[in-house]
Amino acid sequence: MGKDVIIACDFSSKKEVIDFLSQFKDEKPFVKIGMELFYAAGPDIVREIKAMGHKIFLDLKLHDIPNTVMKAMRVLSELDVDMCNLHAAGTIPMMEAALKGLTREDGSRPILIAVTQLTSTSQERMTEDLLIEEPIDKVVMHYALNAKKAGLDGVVCSPLEAEKVHSSCGSDFVTVTPGVRFADGDIGDQVRVTTPAKAKEIGSDYIVVGRPITQAADPVAAYKRCVAEFVG
Ligand code: C5P
Repeated sequence: MGKDVIIACDFSSKKEVIDFLSQFKDEKPFVKIGMELFYAAGPDIVREIKAMGHKIFLDLKLHDIPNTVMKAMRVLSELDVDMCNLHAAGTIPMMEAALKGLTREDGSRPILIAVTQLTSTSQERMTEDLLIEEPIDKVVMHYALNAKKAGLDGVVCSPLEAEKVHSSCGSDFVTVTPGVRFADGDIGDQVRVTTPAKAKEIGSDYIVVGRPITQAADPVAAYKRCVAEFVG
């Protein structure tokens, strides 16, 4: 699985994202489209960005009964996204159904990765609200192994967890890691961050980078710097 930088396009309208991506002339970055933009602009935003030549990670984090997830994934596969995701909490049968829905007649399919526990969920909330009493690190690794058992390609995780995920689930199990900042940049609201160079060293397969690129004075230069540090 090739290493790449994915730009988190956290914009609220089609115009903003198209204006942003139009600045890239020579390179066509892999982009992440999240719920806000997808719900605001609809599936056409995916078709339009694909037509501009970009790969798309559609970050919709599906979680429902297996049959519903299977049918929804079939629609995303037909949209020709390159990567999509779901919540591992939906259980192994849900993840297997998702893979089935994603797989096209010719056997091809987008990369499918799982969210383990959201980084916004603390140990306290997991124990009190979800009644999960195990330590959160153990839960994250268990969910990653469930994703592997179901046949998924990898997980979204902190770069700081990537090494552990690879040692438990295999070096070819993909780690997609947000929480990346330049050494001399603003951290913003992220708490545990790594630089692109450090993420490379740790073994992340894809880094998801938003504001350090989207809010930069020169986004194309910031993207190129990220690629130089991470892909090298
Ligand atoms: O702007 P920034 O680089 O912080 O953007 C990171 C992106 O990764 C955002 O789209 C954010 O929602 C997403 N993300 C994250 N942490 C997670 C999962 C996803 O920052 N644990």
